[in-house]
Amino acid sequence: MTGSLVLKGGRVLDAGGGRDGDVAISGGRIVAIGPDLSGDRVLDAGGCVVAPGLVDLHAHLRQPGHEEAETIETGSRAAALGGFTAVVAMPNTEPAIDGAGVVREVQELGRTALCDVFPAGAITLGRAGHRLAPMAEMAELGVRMFTDDGAGVQDNGLMRRAMEYAAGLPRPVVLAQHCEDGALCGGGHMHEGEWSSRLGIAGQPAEAEELMVMRDIALARLTGARTHFQHLSTAGSLSMVRAARGGGLAVTAEATTHHFTLTHAACASYDPVYKVNPPLRTDADVAAVRQGLAEGAIDAIATDHAPHTQEAKEQPFDEAPPGMLGLETALALALSELDLPIEGVLALLSWQPAAIAGVEDDHGGPVAEGRPANLCVVDPDHAWTVDPARSASRSRNSPYAGRRLRGRVRHTVLRGEPVVVDGEAQR
Ligand code: DOR
Repeated sequence: MTGSLVLKGGRVLDAGGGRDGDVAISGGRIVAIGPDLSGDRVLDAGGCVVAPGLVDLHAHLRQPGHEEAETIETGSRAAALGGFTAVVAMPNTEPAIDGAGVVREVQELGRTALCDVFPAGAITLGRAGHRLAPMAEMAELGVRMFTDDGAGVQDNGLMRRAMEYAAGLPRPVVLAQHCEDGALCGGGHMHEGEWSSRLGIAGQPAEAEELMVMRDIALARLTGARTHFQHLSTAGSLSMVRAARGGGLAVTAEATTHHFTLTHAACASYDPVYKVNPPLRTDADVAAVRQGLAEGAIDAIATDHAPHTQEAKEQPFDEAPPGMLGLETALALALSELDLPIEGVLALLSWQPAAIAGVEDDHGGPVAEGRPANLCVVDPDHAWTVDPARSASRSRNSPYAGRRLRGRVRHTVLRGEPVVVDGEAQR
């Protein structure tokens, strides 16, 4: 087979289960799975799991407008190194992704990226929360997720109209919410609780998130719109989602890696690298997020990869922007910190988010003959230490510097092209 690639000696793992076998790829697709396959180029997958590429529902790639912090090229390189073959790019760019023009621009920039980049569209014009954005024209261009991420839609009536409009579009789309009641959060820079009191930093209460979760569950029931909750961080939010799903409502939810690995105690250092929205919460909230991931109340692990320049993050805690890097550490954090088998981690990072993003035809498996070759090869036992200075991101704001993790991406294959080989990006 001319131009063929073989991933050799690994264990193939997808939503259907695991089996040993080489994977042969040609013309961007998987052409054979079995023993002793040969090809023009062979990549060693010994000791590794060969899985569908990971899918991130939530990444800030900052282009257009904040190229000093990240570009689609650098962010997609970080994604590929983290095992992602697809990311949903958040619309809080400048200008915001709130119409066909910016959607086209991001799609165009994404064509040469190291992973597939799917722009999310804004729900409101300029993400200002006043007037609906033209969701139909964006959906026509392939946009499948809408969100004002960075802020929640505050106006109940407008959110109801957004849901009714979305539910009536000819293509299925999902409305994703950053649940944060602006008035309740007003001026808070971390979780409101024991640590905010001790540190003298203004806080935002858990209820600021929970009120909007409660409202959107009610509106999803009223309108029938497909609703997705972004970066849920409190025990109360998760019990409402669990109850809504128990009652038959088809809402979905994601949690970030930082909300199951860090608590508000980290802010004691006053280091803005720990400033993020929603904020790092209590031990009990972290335990609830872990439980939600283990029990299925949460469908996906998202990174909320939010690059910020060193200059921006060197400001005092209350002036620095919120956000942390996540693309290169997500898989290893999940493998190291969650009490889940690797297939459980891959469900949360690959096939379940692929279905929510509506990209399951190309991403998230199954690993089978004829399918697009969007794959990651993971060595689950490889131990390594996080060094933000070596990140492919243009920014350095990882809260995990020096943390020892287990599980490393050896290779990533995008449409048949090895974009990461032996842990190194190929372009
Ligand atoms: O911490 C955050 N940073 N949360 C958000 O919702 C937005 C993000 C950003 O864009 O930096």
